Amino acid sequence: MSTPVERLSTGVSGIDEILRGGIPKGFTVAVVGEPGTGKTVFALHFVNAGLVNGEKAIYVTTEESRASIIRQAAAFNMDFLQAINRGDLVVIDALMGDRGDAWSLRDLDVEELVNMVIEAKKYLGHGHTRLVIDSMSAFWLDKPAMARKYSYHVKRVLSKWDFTTVLTSQYAVTTSLGFGFGVEHVADGIIRFRKRLVGGYLKRFVVIEKMRQTDHDKRVFEIDIVDGKGMVVVGPHALSRGDFALPAPVMRKMLEAELRKNLELYGDEELEEE
Ligand SMILES: Nc1ncnc2c1ncn2[C@@H]1O[C@H](COP(=O)(O)OP(=O)(O)OP(=O)(O)O)[C@@H](O)[C@H]1O
Ligand SMILES: [Mg+2]
Repeated sequence: MSTPVERLSTGVSGIDEILRGGIPKGFTVAVVGEPGTGKTVFALHFVNAGLVNGEKAIYVTTEESRASIIRQAAAFNMDFLQAINRGDLVVIDALMGDRGDAWSLRDLDVEELVNMVIEAKKYLGHGHTRLVIDSMSAFWLDKPAMARKYSYHVKRVLSKWDFTTVLTSQYAVTTSLGFGFGVEHVADGIIRFRKRLVGGYLKRFVVIEKMRQTDHDKRVFEIDIVDGKGMVVVGPHALSRGDFALPAPVMRKMLEAELRKNLELYGDEELEEE
């Protein structure tokens, strides 16, 4: 018989159900998807669920400013400003590079990131903390070959601190580079968001691709993002695998990019030996 796993609510009740109760405590989960699929909205729910439960949280934002994150949260009735003022939440702004701001990252540097997250953790005090890094892919935009190494480094260093972590990662499907692979390699779980035009209407979907130590629903679910409420699960969707997969030419380009990255990292000799 397996020992029960302690789980954390994601803040989206439908996704908690898909996960048979939530994300196992202490996990590092990759939240991946194209732009506008709902990664940030999901990450806001994850942080807010911790805050309303009396937990502490750290949110690192690279693509939006702190003010934008606070505004976006407020649109879903999540009061991040109050949590910051209470000393329960730190939002590390890695976009604005504001030198006068204590919780601002000046460069998209992984070492700087890890140090500031640890500083924030010390500021918040003892106990379990929810951590979001939105997005991790921003840290290797100009050096995709480092994705896996950086992801591993972040996971290894931060694993000594009492975190449950969500790392978001973007796929740049308009380019030939797949930025998402690094995070997925080190993650204990992968939550994938997708979007698709169906009958002239933008629909969004979610599927759990991996979650260690737990059973989970394997179906694709349609989701919606609702003003004043946030992310909701509409229900299972009979999407074919072909519908859900990235278009074949995009997938091919991403795999080629991944191979190129590996060649840069390890050289072709080691790859040939495998
Ligand atoms: N107040 C709101 N009411 C309804 N829908 C909203 C609201 N705010 C945002 N959305 C929806 O959420 C989408 C943005 O989702 P989100 O920011 O989570 O995407 P993302 O996956 O993080 O994208 P990116 O990779 O560009 O950061 C918007 O395109 C919009 O459709
Ligand atoms: Mg986002």
